Amino acid sequence: MDKNKTPLHIGLIMDGNGRWAKKRLMPRSYGHNAGMNAMIKIAEHAKMRGVKYLTVYTLSTENLNRPQEELDGLYGLFRKYFNKNIQKLYKSGAGVKVIGDISVLPDDVQNLLADGEKNSPENSGFTLIFAINYGARSEILRAVNLAIEKGEKLDKGAFDSLLYTDGIPDPDLIIRTGGEMRLSNFLMYQAAYAELYFTDVLFPDFGKAELDKAIEEYSKRERRFGKI
Ligand code: FPP
Repeated sequence: MDKNKTPLHIGLIMDGNGRWAKKRLMPRSYGHNAGMNAMIKIAEHAKMRGVKYLTVYTLSTENLNRPQEELDGLYGLFRKYFNKNIQKLYKSGAGVKVIGDISVLPDDVQNLLADGEKNSPENSGFTLIFAINYGARSEILRAVNLAIEKGEKLDKGAFDSLLYTDGIPDPDLIIRTGGEMRLSNFLMYQAAYAELYFTDVLFPDFGKAELDKAIEEYSKRERRFGKI
């Protein structure tokens, strides 16, 4: 496969954990735990394939309305990942970044996420970006309000620097598992020219071969960015 056709940045909407658990007569938290394990494998494989940025949609602004029990389960997974699993990522030379408004999360989780970013190796060749309490509409509104505070008209570059994704190239490919075909408020501004890939596979079942399939499909797409 043409190396140039490897997406530099993949966005991943990890949908289907709840249904995956339900099929096994297990609670939703069981599905999220399986989803975290799938995410870890996908991040390793993406890095191996030459992808430089992987943004994972772990919690949307809308998800915050879910039952407290489910949210507590997700916060538990953040604790697990950022206390333990992250070491393997660091050892491989990769780092993490967080996008979204994390100020509403429990204090210890906020501290763990901040440490996770702070301790990331500089100039890492791969960055795993966690979108947490992230929503594109909130992100854009936040940037607009920051622009108003500045009191001057902005060009695209200046506006981009007010987004959470400042310094991160736009996603080339957005993958959504779980059968739905929509963006659900994920990177809507940055996804202007992203290729979209949808699969019915539930996220915990989304393995290396599934990622290869998505990259293969991406490599066959002709990207014109509005030109002929
Ligand atoms: C959507 O599926 C998924 C989420 C709201 C959470 C995704 C989180 C993970 C995969 C774990 C991430 C890793 C860390 C470190 C926290 P859903 O449960 O809404 O699925 P459904 O549509 O089948 O109900």
